[in-house]
Amino acid sequence: MHNGIKFNKNFPDITESNKLFERSKGLIPAYTQTLAKGPTQWVKGIAPKYLIKGKGSHVWDADGNEYIDYNMGIGPIVLGYCYDKVDEAIRNQLKDGITFSLMHPLEVELSEKISSIVPNAESVRFSKTGCDVTTAAVRLARAFTKREKVLCCGYHGWHDWYISVTDRNAGIPEVIKDLTHTFNYNDIESLIQSMDTDTACVILEPFVFEEEKNNFLKEVQEVCKKNGTLLIFDEMWTGFRIAVGGAQQYFGVIPDLACYSKAIANGMPLSVITGREDVMRLFDRDVFFFTTFGGEALSMAAAMATIEEIKINNVPGYLSVQGEKLKEGYNRIAVELGIGFTKCSGYNCRTIITFDAAAGNPLEMKSLVQQEMIKHGILWGGFHNMCYSHSDGDIEYTLKAYEDVLPVLKKAVEENAVIKYLKGEAVEPVFRKTSNFNLKPKKVS
Ligand SMILES: Cc1ncc(COP(=O)(O)O)c(C=O)c1O
Repeated sequence: MHNGIKFNKNFPDITESNKLFERSKGLIPAYTQTLAKGPTQWVKGIAPKYLIKGKGSHVWDADGNEYIDYNMGIGPIVLGYCYDKVDEAIRNQLKDGITFSLMHPLEVELSEKISSIVPNAESVRFSKTGCDVTTAAVRLARAFTKREKVLCCGYHGWHDWYISVTDRNAGIPEVIKDLTHTFNYNDIESLIQSMDTDTACVILEPFVFEEEKNNFLKEVQEVCKKNGTLLIFDEMWTGFRIAVGGAQQYFGVIPDLACYSKAIANGMPLSVITGREDVMRLFDRDVFFFTTFGGEALSMAAAMATIEEIKINNVPGYLSVQGEKLKEGYNRIAVELGIGFTKCSGYNCRTIITFDAAAGNPLEMKSLVQQEMIKHGILWGGFHNMCYSHSDGDIEYTLKAYEDVLPVLKKAVEENAVIKYLKGEAVEPVFRKTSNFNLKPKKVS
């Protein structure tokens, strides 16, 4: 019997998932192509490992168990899995072809569409992955300013210039490592202290989970302007979620360059760099940014349909309303249970559930909640990544599940025995440091 979206008696049968996993051992290093989907983020022995189908906000694993998903492909699924209008656009394009020998009209049409909704999109270029465009933006900024250093805040992808700031930096030359440093969100002093006359660009996620305070983004923009440094927004998560035109529209702070991917094509691989015409013009010749699949038509057709749906249905408004119900609901349940050590926070379209280390090991507490939510038919990674298909029924059911699961956490914490309640191995830390690392030493004044 498969588990469904209900108070199941048993944990899901994951035999097929486990068989596939065994086959991948020694064959696929790290097992996964996307860290957040891989085994380190899921309770081993309990969580399913492979998904084979999705429809709307629901997914089915390799053993046929059904879940409400709150991960949404780690960002791309903004409308819902197998969303009819997008799938129809893909199928229609498929009849004519995928990749061609000359440019495709969709490149023009999609650029015009993006230019009409993204405030800074005087010019537009496409690629495939998020780090394609963050890396292109950094190179462009270096070429434009004739400077070399980069300051960043957030996660920006696997390429040398960024990942060199983390401890997973093997294979990157020291000279590259010396060129990128970080600053802290909502801490303008940490930016000012790191800036110098060789700073080509500041790249940041306009927000992750922490709320923007004291006009931080506007301040960042002013500091950049004064220093002749370009400002780049990495809108991978904020784009098409917080507002149709992204965080730059939401906050009214227009960066020189901006990078989008994830939600733009509801699951098809596409990324975009938008920006000032005088800067982007360098792509004409001096800055080389070309790739075989950059103009691939299925993804562009999907993006045309996705953006249209987002616009006409005010999807960001919907995500905010549904996300708020989950956030407030979670916090209400936690308060009623007297377990203030866990809370849900963040902008409504994407919230995070955290556990206070004062109450125990946060990763173990997260694992316990994950384990129990999975038993209730919810694929839960500690986030509510909202999509347009998360129905009122999904939300109501999820809150009921929390009402059933959080008392288990409370009991386990009170007994100081979370690990005892865990049926599998705990999850590992999320690879996403966003503050207090790789900061440049303070300037001597
Ligand atoms: C904010 C941000 N920037 C850049 C990236 C890199 O995108 P990709 O994994 O598509 O290369 C990610 C990926 O999760 C991201 O979250």
